Amino acid sequence: MPATGPSVSAVVVLAAGQGTRMRSRTPKVLHAVGGRSMLGHVLAAAGPLGAAATVVVVGSGRDQVEAHLAEIAPQARSVVQEQQNGSGHAAAVALATITDLEGPVLIVNGDAPLLRAATVEALVQAHRAAGDVLTVLTAVVADPTGLGRIVRDAGGRVTAIVEERDATAEQRAITEVNAGVYVGDGAAVRAALARVGAANDQGEQYLTDVLGLLVGDGAPVGGHPAEDPDDTLGCNDRRELAARRRTLNDRVLDELMRSGVTVVDLATTWVDVTVEVGADTVLHPGTQLLGATVVGSDAVVGPDTTLTDTEVGDGARVVRTHAELAVVGPDVQVGPFAYLRPGTRLARGAKVGTFVETKNATVGEGSKIPHLSYVGDATIGEGTNIGAATVFVNYDGVAKHHTTIGSHARTGADNMFVAPVTVGDGAYTAAGSVITTDVPPGAMGVARAAQRNVAGWVRRRRPGTAAAAAAEAATAPHTDDAQGARS
Ligand code: UD1
Ligand code: MG
Repeated sequence: MPATGPSVSAVVVLAAGQGTRMRSRTPKVLHAVGGRSMLGHVLAAAGPLGAAATVVVVGSGRDQVEAHLAEIAPQARSVVQEQQNGSGHAAAVALATITDLEGPVLIVNGDAPLLRAATVEALVQAHRAAGDVLTVLTAVVADPTGLGRIVRDAGGRVTAIVEERDATAEQRAITEVNAGVYVGDGAAVRAALARVGAANDQGEQYLTDVLGLLVGDGAPVGGHPAEDPDDTLGCNDRRELAARRRTLNDRVLDELMRSGVTVVDLATTWVDVTVEVGADTVLHPGTQLLGATVVGSDAVVGPDTTLTDTEVGDGARVVRTHAELAVVGPDVQVGPFAYLRPGTRLARGAKVGTFVETKNATVGEGSKIPHLSYVGDATIGEGTNIGAATVFVNYDGVAKHHTTIGSHARTGADNMFVAPVTVGDGAYTAAGSVITTDVPPGAMGVARAAQRNVAGWVRRRRPGTAAAAAAEAATAPHTDDAQGARS
């Protein structure tokens, strides 16, 4: 490949098909695998080619596909294929909109979620090296069912691609298949596409027919087998979707392990391609790391933990936790059984313990919320301890309000902080308090009724019960005399 300049002039992604076999309201190419849409994976694989133009052919569910494109690849341009007359028709519609067709064009199916940049680059390189007019990416697979077969002549030259439904029994026995990724001279492919008919089982214009037409012209055409056949696997139904997801996940875990991450159970650990994990971190069974999640080094995550768009610092432990858009600082402990909702920020060494839910809450360094609490819309300073079973009462039925707790405070168990309210630095609150007004620094806030004991109540009001008998035994004097003396 040349050291400078893009290696292809344009990338065309075919994404207009309905994806009937998926049986979904969602367009096929928008189904997600490993944290990215299939279309997103294909665009990521083609990205490093640095093409001047990226054209995505849309049709079925075009509004959804275009909205998604605007989000993930605003530089890409969509072209509408009004009627889905086949992959050849789709490619023709795209090429008709590209004015500058100097040099090779990459045409790729939108349903290839395992395609990688290195594979696409190797195809382009092979194409250039061979000086072919068109080169198709191929794969030799154990089960070619449903795929286009690569027909080669006695000399090994590719002569045609035949769809399974149009293939002879002899052709069906071929195990080298078409990956649906092509690189070819733009002008030559465009000219050949104009000659593609629809005389096949589906009555569609097949992009694959271009190859046979070019061969008929005597043009040099090649087939480049992918180094890893998995890269070429398309995805047409939910069973293939599950299989591709599995393969992609295995790849992600493999890469993590190579980089020094311990994955205890490959079968139940799912990590999106967009996630980063530092060395010497341990992922326990049932861990899902999704979206923009970043986990540092020497951390422990899981078992049974789902982190979405969440940051976990070095040395943190996050056990049996569900978190989204949270920031867990270094050396923080979370769980077991914690729910960190968006806007949770836990500073270094903080602790969010068992059955604790947090939302829009900033917890300072070393502060602890160990048990059974809800912390919503709150700021907590450093070195503070929140007593068990505390609720930050943030909602008055109409609006949300904020609670501020200072540093080195000690709040009692079973407190309600009725926001907006502030507890100062170094303040205490008594157990069972409903704190509705500010507690100044260093004060003890007590907000509960004084206790009174009604003596003898059980004997009078619950006579004959086990409680009355127990009370009687507990209060009885120890000598027979005294017992006789009682009234
Ligand atoms: C296609 C290939 C097959 C190859 C396989 C690899 C053809 C005729 N066959 O089959 O040789 O082995 O991919 O996965 O190309 N599309 C459009 N407009 C249309 C029709 C399709 O944009 O009118 C798009 C689809 O959205 C899809 C791609 O083209 O991304 C391929 O179409 P699909 O129906 O998946 O073709 P396959 O049957 O998988
Ligand atoms: Mg397909």
